[in-house]
Amino acid sequence: MFIVLLGAPGAGKGTQAKRVSQRMGLPHVSSGDLFREHERRGTELGQEAQRYLSRGELVPDSVTSAMIRERLGQPDSRDGAVLDGFPRTEPQAQALAGLLAEVKGQVDHAVLIRVPEDRLVERLAGRRVCENQGHVYHVTFNPPRQPGLCDQDGSPLLQREDDQPETVRRRIRVYEEQTRPVVEFYRRLGLLREIEGDQGIDQVTEDILHALQLEVEG
Ligand code: AP5
Repeated sequence: MFIVLLGAPGAGKGTQAKRVSQRMGLPHVSSGDLFREHERRGTELGQEAQRYLSRGELVPDSVTSAMIRERLGQPDSRDGAVLDGFPRTEPQAQALAGLLAEVKGQVDHAVLIRVPEDRLVERLAGRRVCENQGHVYHVTFNPPRQPGLCDQDGSPLLQREDDQPETVRRRIRVYEEQTRPVVEFYRRLGLLREIEGDQGIDQVTEDILHALQLEVEG
């Protein structure tokens, strides 16, 4: 089963993708995490991507789609994945449909997590991410047991470079202009499930699983 998670920056896609992928036994494939991993390893792709990430702009479609094709070609995602942050433009949505068709697959569900803009800014300003593996916290809404340290691996918690207020505003604008059409793309296909994201993390997870289950049963 291939599930696409959609939503503005800070809507909680990464937080929910980790939980949903665990509950459903599917790999979590995050385009943002893949770019940041390339950046850490200092690859050519990472250096190119970094220029876009630091400005809050989208990495070109051809680069992004090729990276996802490579990731979905790995054995763990042959039968499905929870996709977080991809597709983010209509050409990427078309590319995904094409590459899944090659393995006789398709997007089964697209889940939109809706959160008002003022809450997004608050969430991104307080987000902290662990240095080692990118575990996500929030200083108020999801704090670590020990301030500044990851509960899971004890590594220091850092602020993402693109979570600075000006870059956050740019990312939200880019989302409205370039990713909204993807929401409409999946709505037209009848695959869109809309979830209220402005509630507790556990409740959002339950609502997503409930929505997916309804579709599975329906
Ligand atoms: P990416 O890493 O995908 O960033 P994003 O989409 O902007 O999403 P975020 O990771 O910022 O937020 P999220 O929705 O995952 O929220 P989270 O769960 O962390 O992309 C980064 C960049 O990479 C892009 O700007 C672009 O340059 C490039 N890129 C990536 N994909 C691309 C693509 N397909 N094409 C081209 N370029 C691409 O939660 C946020 C905070 O809120 C956390 O602190 C969390 O603890 C807290 N929180 C979560 N849920 C709740 C809740 N229910 N209540 C209270 N707090 C909550």
